[in-house]
Amino acid sequence: MNTITLDKSLLTNVGLIDEQHRELITRINKLHDAMKEGKGREVVQSTLNFLVSYVVKHFTDEESFMEKYECPIKDVNKKAHKDFVEKLKDFESKQARGEVLLSLEIYNDLSKWVINHIKTIDTKMAAYVK
Ligand SMILES: [Fe+2]
Ligand SMILES: [Fe+2]
Repeated sequence: MNTITLDKSLLTNVGLIDEQHRELITRINKLHDAMKEGKGREVVQSTLNFLVSYVVKHFTDEESFMEKYECPIKDVNKKAHKDFVEKLKDFESKQARGEVLLSLEIYNDLSKWVINHIKTIDTKMAAYVK
């Protein structure tokens, strides 16, 4: 299993959004590295904290671009974002309850979601960017 790279198939043609995706991917990849270095525990905590606030910013920015460019997929995008925030909150509360969260499992789950979401929804924006 490898880390994720933001290749051409994941670009939206909106510079700010592509940069934010790059940041998201970099942070998620850190879970992968932490697991290999045996530092999973601390990194799971800091990554979740980071992601919870970062995705709120990213999702807000992206939703307003989709609004602006009148992307037909904007509502589907919004709904998916809501689900992702729930997923993160769920991880956070599990951790708060003292459940052990494995960096590998979180890595697999988040990376799969992010890649699939960008590929199937966010990149649809590219065709509407004026
Ligand atoms: Fe999105
Ligand atoms: Fe996005």
